[in-house]
Amino acid sequence: MQQNNASGADTPQILREERNSAETAVALPSLSLDRTELIRAAQEVRQNAYAPYSNYSVGAAVRTIDGRVFVGCNVENASFGLTVCAERNAIFAAVAAGAREIVAVAVVTGDGGSPCGACRQVLAEFRPRSGDPLEIITTDVTGAVVMESAISALLPFAFDLPS
Ligand code: THU
Repeated sequence: MQQNNASGADTPQILREERNSAETAVALPSLSLDRTELIRAAQEVRQNAYAPYSNYSVGAAVRTIDGRVFVGCNVENASFGLTVCAERNAIFAAVAAGAREIVAVAVVTGDGGSPCGACRQVLAEFRPRSGDPLEIITTDVTGAVVMESAISALLPFAFDLPS
């Protein structure tokens, strides 16, 4: 799953990377209905993002193993460090509803940005126990897919306590 870049450092495998390519405008109908629904939910909740300081609105939607969808947006604060990312707000909503395993997350930003390291670690906590991938989809504001990957590729060697 790992590739070496020119500097010899490990880089996560990106299953699909279309940022800044002519193919960026992936038509939503070509995606599975499940993913389309997840992306649309993230697009919708992004409109509620509270981001007056960065002006960088993020929407996230997670699908739990039992098929439920939970959403979150970024919520900023005048005390900047109190800001909470969209992904974590979506995950925490799912957990508060009893979920413990997440199979997919869609993240919508203006430019197709990818989840921060903190959110990757929190996603890893709730990856499927079966070993199935936790799929990560990022899109730009139009819903065009920029990246599809898995948490194991985006955060290899995630922290865990000894069992
Ligand atoms: N942000 C997210 O919501 N998710 C991420 O994975 C990275 C960053 C938010 C936090 C802040 O409100 C804004 O984007 C700019 O950093």
